[in-house]
Amino acid sequence: MKAAVIYYSLEGNTRLAAELIARKLDADLIPLTPSKGYPPGKVSKYFWGGKSATFAEAPKLEPYDFDPDLYDLLVLGTPVWAGTFAPPLRTFIRENHLSAKKLALFACCSGGSTAKCFSQIEREIGSVPAVSKLRLIDPLLGRQEEVDRSITGFCAELTLRVG
Ligand SMILES: Cc1cc2nc3c(=O)[nH]c(=O)nc-3n(C[C@H](O)[C@H](O)[C@H](O)COP(=O)(O)O)c2cc1C
Repeated sequence: MKAAVIYYSLEGNTRLAAELIARKLDADLIPLTPSKGYPPGKVSKYFWGGKSATFAEAPKLEPYDFDPDLYDLLVLGTPVWAGTFAPPLRTFIRENHLSAKKLALFACCSGGSTAKCFSQIEREIGSVPAVSKLRLIDPLLGRQEEVDRSITGFCAELTLRVG
């Protein structure tokens, strides 16, 4: 199985999870970077990121290297923003034809639900449901054993289901 882990991360939680998943699956890692970054300030990140997610924006991305034909499995990762996925992922989904691919999803949150985030990604892609989904709470906060256990289980399930 050849996999790619495609993710957006503002503050590093989703990046850490993406790196751990990619290592376990021996997958290519494809970070998404908006051309105009979101301000990382304590208040402004919630204002601008929340607004961008709520209005379902699709911000322009810096160039990235991705050929869907190379992969059996695409693992998409995002932080939860205002209950949904972060807009850079929307741009990626719209720029690429993903509906024929096997997909898995993971999302980092600070404790809220990821159900709407996952269903909205699936709706945006317009394909059959993801083969597996993983919710993580701020992996950078240090519950390393718990994070490792969740990621190991997620990757084992993917290997079993996708081959
Ligand atoms: C704009 C914004 C909105 C957020 N909205 C939610 C939310 O609705 N539910 C939640 O549990 N966490 C929310 N968070 C917290 C992040 O999802 C969480 O800290 C995540 O681990 C951050 O990932 P990152 O470090 O990869 O950016 C929000 C964070 C930001 C910046």
